[in-house]
Amino acid sequence: EEDLLTKRCPARIQFAQYDIVTWYSSPYPVEYARLNKLYLCEFCLKYMKSKKVAERHRTQCKEFHPPGKEIYRHEGLSVFEVDGNAAKFYCQNLCLLVKLFLDHKTLYYDVEPFLFYVLTKNDETGCHLVGYFSKEKACQQRYNVSCIMTLPQYQRSGYGRFLIDFSYLLSRKEGQHGSPEKPLSDLGRVSYHAYWKSVVLEYMSNFDSSTLSVVTIADSTGMSPHDIASTLQRLGMLERDPKTRKWKIHSRQDLIDEHKAKEAKSNRPRLCDEALKWTPLG
Ligand code: COA
Ligand code: NA
Repeated sequence: EEDLLTKRCPARIQFAQYDIVTWYSSPYPVEYARLNKLYLCEFCLKYMKSKKVAERHRTQCKEFHPPGKEIYRHEGLSVFEVDGNAAKFYCQNLCLLVKLFLDHKTLYYDVEPFLFYVLTKNDETGCHLVGYFSKEKACQQRYNVSCIMTLPQYQRSGYGRFLIDFSYLLSRKEGQHGSPEKPLSDLGRVSYHAYWKSVVLEYMSNFDSSTLSVVTIADSTGMSPHDIASTLQRLGMLERDPKTRKWKIHSRQDLIDEHKAKEAKSNRPRLCDEALKWTPLG
């Protein structure tokens, strides 16, 4: 622990009222990274060397929400679509912040080819950053998420799932099947597997399994056929017909019941599809 603390740069950040212990180093300029603690403006994401500088900045900074266009607002949550080309400073600072919680290499400065979907929780003092995902503007491989993060103080409350759900809503609006960019981190994998499982089980609960196919599930959810097939396989719901050698979906009522019971108990934030005001890029 002690060793980790001395090697991570910076070891902590102050973000709004949160004093956050970082998980990994991020390539802030050396004179900042070498400090034990960085002070971030929660709205424009500017990083600063001291509490005093940060407090002075707050009296001058005019931002109270992310830049870009607010494309979703419902029950105190908003999503802003931020173009890496139009808000370079913000997106670069966002990437540096994200790297503090991500072990693999990611982009920091080359933000122009990406859109950033930034989730905020809103109150009378502003739209507070909760998490985000990035998405390549012109992605050959049909990745609908490049990188995704929930700030530590908001984790394990359903916001990651909300963001994943949002990314598939965009894919459905685009008329495409999407999938997250690989490799996924361990937490990314856990979150996606949980999401895929619940989406597939929800779909199965509404349809007779004799009419099901991987493609029909893909078309109605925006998930890629590959991710659906692997989810079905993990759930033990994919069988090969010994005669025709064709793959067949075989539903499992026990898992559907388990899923229904879990959903009934859950009070995670729900995405309202109708609250999205968005049309895909040309
Ligand atoms: N341990 C076990 N399960 C976990 C978990 C953990 N630490 N974190 C999330 N999960 C599970 C949740 O139980 C939930 O499953 P459920 O819907 O069946 O209950 C699911 O994953 C999603 O949880 P949720 O609360 O919606 O996610 P989150 O807001 O905590 O965000 C990440 C998930 C991945 C975005 C977040 O952990 C994160 O930002 N990690 C660091 C960055 C990263 O690794 N990004 C992904 C790779 S680019
Ligand atoms: Na959770």
